[in-house]
Amino acid sequence: MTRQRPRFSRLAGAGWVFTVCLCAGLLVYFHWLHPRISMGHEQPIAFSHRLHVSDKQIDCAYCHPFAHRSLNAGLPSVHKCLGCHDHIIAGHPQIQRLKSARQSQQALAWLRVFYNPDHVFFPHYRHLGKGVTCQQCHGSVESQDRLQTHTFYMGFCIDCHQTRGASRECTACHQ
Ligand code: HEC
Ligand code: HEC
Ligand code: HEC
Ligand code: HEC
Ligand code: HEC
Repeated sequence: MTRQRPRFSRLAGAGWVFTVCLCAGLLVYFHWLHPRISMGHEQPIAFSHRLHVSDKQIDCAYCHPFAHRSLNAGLPSVHKCLGCHDHIIAGHPQIQRLKSARQSQQALAWLRVFYNPDHVFFPHYRHLGKGVTCQQCHGSVESQDRLQTHTFYMGFCIDCHQTRGASRECTACHQ
């Protein structure tokens, strides 16, 4: 005589499968996907702000010299990196890659991390002139190895403009 398996044990089986899948999913997410997201893009050279700014005490303005006087902050050229790295850890594999970029006269294709849509006008120098710090908008860049992708929302800009008494005319930011 064949007996039917009791209903509850089939349910319990499904429960086990579900639990195992859930655990596997969480494991993959927290071990692999999540850190990758929170770590930011992989860049063409493994450049670390934490190392250069916090450990080696290099000033933001040394590498982003236009922030105080122009719309864009600017990124350092290969030549600027090699100004130091022709002498510091010159044999490091990442530095070798910098040198071959110089030789082939290629600019490094850094991926953008912070951006506004094209219809937004944003002048760095107007902000720095009023004592707004890099960190108020960019967060603690100096504690990150790879910068995290970030989108600015209009409310973020407007909130500070309201407290600081800066312009809230639509045409100030949308030209
Ligand atoms: C009031 C907010 C604000 C402050 C303060 C600010 N930034 Fe920015 N930054 C932005 C926004 C918004 C963008 C994106 C601009 C775009 O997409 O046009 C940006 C973009 C950048 C970029 C990308 C490339 C470029 O040339 O613009 C760099 C580098 C940068 N900022 C560095 C700095 C540094 C260094 C400081 C401090 C000296 C600073 N920022 C202060 C808001 C700010
Ligand atoms: C003012 C000098 C200076 C400049 C400019 C500079 N660096 Fe560095 N960099 C250093 C120092 C100091 C170290 C630490 C060297 C050591 O470990 O002994 C370092 C370390 C590094 C490392 C090795 C990190 C590791 O994990 O070991 C890389 C890669 C690097 N820099 C890339 C760059 C790139 C790319 C630029 C240009 C955007 C740049 N650096 C500009 C001084 C500089
Ligand atoms: C030694 C050179 C160096 C120094 C010092 C430095 N940066 Fe950078 N910065 C870079 C390079 C190279 C990139 C492009 C690669 C990346 O995004 O990590 C960059 C990217 C950025 C970006 C993102 C730009 C984008 O593409 O959206 C911001 C914001 C920024 N830096 C802010 C700062 C601030 C704030 C400081 C000081 C606390 C600082 N940086 C110091 C070299 C430097
Ligand atoms: C932490 C405060 C703060 C944040 C955040 C901020 N701003 Fe400002 N912004 C100011 C101040 C203060 C001024 C006034 C500068 C002046 O009067 O010269 C200003 C001025 C400006 C101006 C010039 C306005 C004029 O009078 O012509 C523009 C454009 C602007 N901001 C765009 C933006 C955008 C876009 C964002 C968001 C991505 C933003 N700001 C985020 C503080 C801020
Ligand atoms: C201080 C700067 C600032 C001012 C002032 C400002 N905006 Fe914006 N606006 C932004 C930024 C930054 C974005 C892009 C980020 C986003 O979509 O939230 C944006 C996005 C937008 C968008 C596109 C939203 C979307 O979902 O794509 C519209 C529409 C817009 N703004 C309308 C306005 C109008 C209307 C005013 C005047 C009442 C105004 N803005 C004033 C900074 C500003």
